[in-house]
Amino acid sequence: MSESSAYVIVGASLAGAKAAETLRGEGFDGPVVLIGDETERPYERPPLSKDYLLGKAERETIYVHPASWYADNGVQLRLGVPVAGIDRAAHEVALADGNRIGYAKLLLATGSSPRRLPVPGADADGVLYLRRVGDSDQIKATFQTASRIAVIGAGWIGLETAAAARAAGVEVTLLEAAELPLLRVLGAEVARVFADLHREQGVDLRFGVQVSEITGSGGRADGVRLADGSHIPADAAIVGVGITPNTQLAEAAGLETGNGVVVDAALRSSDPDIFAAGDVASAMHPVLGQHIRVEHWANALNQPQAAARAMLGQEVAYGKIPYFYTDQYDLGMEYAGYVEPGRYDQVVFRGDVERREFIAFWLGGGRALAGMNVNIWDVNDAIQDLVGSGRQLDPARLADPGVPLEEVAG
Ligand SMILES: Cc1cc2nc3c(=O)[nH]c(=O)nc-3n(C[C@H](O)[C@H](O)[C@H](O)COP(=O)(O)OP(=O)(O)OC[C@H]3O[C@@H](n4cnc5c(N)ncnc54)[C@H](O)[C@@H]3O)c2cc1C
Ligand SMILES: NC(=O)c1ccc[n+]([C@@H]2O[C@H](COP(=O)([O-])OP(=O)(O)OC[C@H]3O[C@@H](n4cnc5c(N)ncnc54)[C@H](O)[C@@H]3O)[C@@H](O)[C@H]2O)c1
Repeated sequence: MSESSAYVIVGASLAGAKAAETLRGEGFDGPVVLIGDETERPYERPPLSKDYLLGKAERETIYVHPASWYADNGVQLRLGVPVAGIDRAAHEVALADGNRIGYAKLLLATGSSPRRLPVPGADADGVLYLRRVGDSDQIKATFQTASRIAVIGAGWIGLETAAAARAAGVEVTLLEAAELPLLRVLGAEVARVFADLHREQGVDLRFGVQVSEITGSGGRADGVRLADGSHIPADAAIVGVGITPNTQLAEAAGLETGNGVVVDAALRSSDPDIFAAGDVASAMHPVLGQHIRVEHWANALNQPQAAARAMLGQEVAYGKIPYFYTDQYDLGMEYAGYVEPGRYDQVVFRGDVERREFIAFWLGGGRALAGMNVNIWDVNDAIQDLVGSGRQLDPARLADPGVPLEEVAG
């Protein structure tokens, strides 16, 4: 077995970089090795479908740390090389370039990858996915030349990309298998708000459709065929049909996996020296009392900090309420909480839904499971408190903007 004292992190993105930062912040002075298969140093992905894609943010703004931070903090950054395997018995990771690195503790921050569209023609030029900064560059360039695009999937990627395309003056047809956008996450009551928003912005929305083929000629996409035989001409197709967690390493190493790498509330896997955080982790949530896997920025920011402390032997239970946000056209929103599809009894609105200035609460058993503020700011902490408190709430008081949120549960 390796005698290494190194703390090794696989996946050099937001979660990996935050774990490295926390290890140093907590005073760990042994070797820290951060390994990533991308050639860029760790960067944040939210701008890739928003300000960076819109051309409003420079590339330098997306990085988690300045380039000099890694050397300054003694973090060995190994980029452009995938980890190909974990040898748990030897306490080593094997890199694809043949090198092996010993670890005392290992963090898996391997994130997730876009699901591919499983239809004929989907590997043609002009069929684009959005996960990496190079993808965003390519889509931005496409907006300069394309006059019409098809966006497949009306989830977060699809909606934010559609908004950026409209801002660039490109015609958009949005193709979604479900009956509304974001239906699984928001439910019909609130999903409608996003459908109306995009319709008002001139997006051609097609719900309940099945893509059967990407058409093209000479290896280049020129449209999308639907199962009903109809054809949507398009200069490019952008696909956002969800992601799958990168659990391959964990699975091959025999760790417990399910919908992600299964970890406890301290982010520890079924091997006590291996931890996981970020998109890839299916973590026991001590407040919700179940394993959840969160595919959002705030989780990739905060959870690895807890994992790093647990790796150092500290007592940790990561129980932050899941949080995410979006910006589309002039709609900005924040969401806090966790609701499995259809697992709520009612949605209570406070404010003006028509003007898109409101807070929505998803209630289950009389408690707030989640809340979302739309174009209303400085209220998300109060929403998180309500969700975290688990207290019984009166829907009438919740709906009444005259009752301060802090007093709703009182
Ligand atoms: C375009 C876009 C916009 C988004 N916008 C928002 C938003 O507005 N709000 C929000 O809350 N969330 C948003 N998200 C989600 C958020 O970015 C993710 O939740 C977050 O990136 C997860 O971070 P992570 O570090 O866990 O994983 P990732 O960001 O997926 O990083 C994992 C890294 O590990 C690398 N890797 C994987 N396997 C290996 C291996 N074997 N060896 C070496 N390296 C490996 C990957 O290449 C990658 O670099 C967005 C995501 C995208 C793609
Ligand atoms: N603001 C944010 O929080 C934000 C922004 C961008 C990306 N992200 C993250 O990026 C990841 C990927 O986002 P995404 O939008 O790809 O996934 P998603 O899961 O949010 O949405 C996928 C959508 O595609 C639809 N779909 C699935 N298969 C389809 C098919 N064959 N044809 C048509 N529609 C189909 C689904 O019904 C769903 O509406 C997620 O983890 C997401 O959380 C988050």
